[in-house]
Amino acid sequence: LYGTQAIKDNELTIGGVSTTELANTYGTPLFVYDTALIRERAQGFVETFKELGVQAQVAYASKAFACVAMYQLAVQENLSVDVVSGGELYTALKAGVPAERIHFHGNNKSVEEIEMAFDAKIGCIVVDNFYEIELINTIAQQKNANMNVLLRVTPGVEAHTHEFITTGQADSKFGFDLNNGQADDAFKAAQEKSGITLLGLHCHIGSQIFETEGFSLAAGKLMAKLGAWRDETGFTPQVLNLGGGFGIRYTAEDTPLAPQQYVADMIQVVKEEAQKLNLDVPEIWIEPGRSLVGDAGTSLYTIGSQKTVPGVREYIAVDGGMSDNIRPALYDAKYEAVIANKANEAADYTYTVAGKLCESGDKLMTDAKLQKAEEGDILAMFCTGAYGYSMASNYNRVARPAVVFVENGQHQLVIRRESYEDLIQNDLPFTLK
Ligand code: LLP
Repeated sequence: LYGTQAIKDNELTIGGVSTTELANTYGTPLFVYDTALIRERAQGFVETFKELGVQAQVAYASKAFACVAMYQLAVQENLSVDVVSGGELYTALKAGVPAERIHFHGNNKSVEEIEMAFDAKIGCIVVDNFYEIELINTIAQQKNANMNVLLRVTPGVEAHTHEFITTGQADSKFGFDLNNGQADDAFKAAQEKSGITLLGLHCHIGSQIFETEGFSLAAGKLMAKLGAWRDETGFTPQVLNLGGGFGIRYTAEDTPLAPQQYVADMIQVVKEEAQKLNLDVPEIWIEPGRSLVGDAGTSLYTIGSQKTVPGVREYIAVDGGMSDNIRPALYDAKYEAVIANKANEAADYTYTVAGKLCESGDKLMTDAKLQKAEEGDILAMFCTGAYGYSMASNYNRVARPAVVFVENGQHQLVIRRESYEDLIQNDLPFTLK
């Protein structure tokens, strides 16, 4: 069980609220977020920087799950916010996120998006390519304004779970290569532009990472580069952004570290490098997404039809699927679940949980150990808070689910369930003859 989850009278509760009551009240499929756990995760990062006396910004990578209420919760917990589109920027601004705490990412930001960032006076743009350097400077001149930027670089360190690889050259659509002179050219270009204030460097080495070595390696490489630029030009780096990617526990096989550990290790490396290079320790920024919201989210589904393939497997089908969680189909992602209204019973049945979408690959779990499933039971799938709702679609014209926040025995709808009316609101009748 995660966060405030508990079992009471054979039922799964979250934040002191019965999940079957939530299912009855709001319908299914339903995303339930344990906001106390989101707060705890946020504080884990924020407090560690404070305790170790390092200036920092912890920016929520809102692609993991974005809505007005989520941005407001992020602000309550003193997080900054990383946005990657005009849509996320718009939502964050509407939610009241202070503009100076917003960082804008993306490898192909449009003119409109960059103009929007200028007009809102956001904190910084993380610049991805040479075209964008020109674009930002042109818009800065048109608006007689200035923009803080970080340069996103690919350090040749790629981490995935327990493994990381280092390469001389990174084959990535993102950022400037740190190892082949590209980053140096970008530095020169950015320094020459009157509309750009260069704060420092950014990198993001991967996602669902369980070790600190990759971050340490990347931090070392970026610090060395900042030191070299200082030597060559007198440049004073203010910010080192080491991205997100801290892993979470989806299943028993996953062994993440505590937020505190990731942060403590990267701070140590940055401090050591700073001392070696005789540089002031820059502000350290990070961008966790999954590790802030992933295990705080639980998906509730109603179980409907069942099918036995004799000698092969038992299927149970739920009222959602790849339209609200595409991760199993897309990445072969693994989850654990419980039948929420039988949570205390033995999980000695094996089922493959199918979604309701018209695609054979629409399976949420394969050979999952569960309590005996009957039609009308509520399936609670754990750890769906990151990249679930945010990657949801209307495939098959299935409406996207509702989202509720629970805390301290209270619950609140934060995203309404889509209606059939919503599904056709942008459709127009055919009028050509
Ligand atoms: N910063 C940058 C620049 C990123 O590209 C990402 C994620 C993050 C921060 C946040 O990473 P996190 O802390 O959430 O690992 N859809 C995939 C994950 C894609 C991650 C993309 N970038 C999934 O469902 O696993």
